[in-house]
Amino acid sequence: MCKKVALTGDRPTGCLHLGHYIGTLQSRVHLQHEYDQYVMIADVQALTDYFANPSKISDSLFEVVADYISVGIDPELTTIFVQSEISALPELMMYYMNLVTTSRLERNPTVKTELQQKNFGGEGIPAGFLCYPISQAADITAFKAEVVPVGEDQLPLIEQCNEIVRKFNRLYGVDCLKEAKAHLSQTARLVGIDGKAKASKSLNNAIFLSDSADIVKQKVYSMFTDPDHIKISDPGKIEGNVVFTYLDAFYRDKSEIESLKQQYQKGGLGDTALKSLLNETLQSLLSPIREKRKSLRRDYLYDVIHHGSIKARAIANETLREVKDAIGLNFFNK
Ligand code: TRP
Repeated sequence: MCKKVALTGDRPTGCLHLGHYIGTLQSRVHLQHEYDQYVMIADVQALTDYFANPSKISDSLFEVVADYISVGIDPELTTIFVQSEISALPELMMYYMNLVTTSRLERNPTVKTELQQKNFGGEGIPAGFLCYPISQAADITAFKAEVVPVGEDQLPLIEQCNEIVRKFNRLYGVDCLKEAKAHLSQTARLVGIDGKAKASKSLNNAIFLSDSADIVKQKVYSMFTDPDHIKISDPGKIEGNVVFTYLDAFYRDKSEIESLKQQYQKGGLGDTALKSLLNETLQSLLSPIREKRKSLRRDYLYDVIHHGSIKARAIANETLREVKDAIGLNFFNK
């Protein structure tokens, strides 16, 4: 009867792109039928990066909600809510902070990679950044999520969350917190149109769900292919060829792609023909998404996150009550 809970979140730092679509948005559209699904706009977590520039976050919030709904996440089936509206989350985090050492946080592979990328320098590591895995554990456990659809880079955060769950339940002799499993997408991270790194907002190498048809076309035609494939008759390389990476990800007929690859490797298939095929493929994927987006009014988006946050708040409060009970802290609320 009672459906299991699935929960994910995104940091609202710009519009979502095809990497998000293939990475998790698509699976959320399926999972919402099987699970009681929550999707959180992680504005508090985004502040660990943008605390000095918070308008980036408030400017993106409604864009992200519009992206969700336009790809088919249905607010009737999925609770979409805003992290900063749920004050039980930082409260839970506070109780979990005693169960985690700073050295364990520093050893978390996701944190380690991000530390290298960020290079905090002289002032040292902000506590808010170092502790965000604990905050994420609060997000997941507050809703008793058993399934977390995320990319591979998030696995160490889920492991860290499960360590907290086990430690909490053991220490306080309860079973109110649930361990979660990652639900990984079939496709690995999508590379950017430049072929250099994963598609990302900051590198400006992504195709956004909200890009116009012209921009999509322009981006497809500027994709990195094989620089040595000059004449159509030249044999071409598949590896590192972004057009093939995107066709692999988005073109339905896999056997047709295989024969195109063979032809390309032999010589006789031009980049322009392939780009035109990819452009058609992406246009037919994105055009209904773009149309749906146009029909979404701001007050509707506001209502969606307002109601979602009220519902999410009640559930997180209930878990907080259980957690405080387990520790023996509910003095006035028995
Ligand atoms: N860390 C995730 C990201 O950067 C966002 C996130 C916050 C999240 N809380 C979560 C994801 C809870 C899954 C579950 O995209």
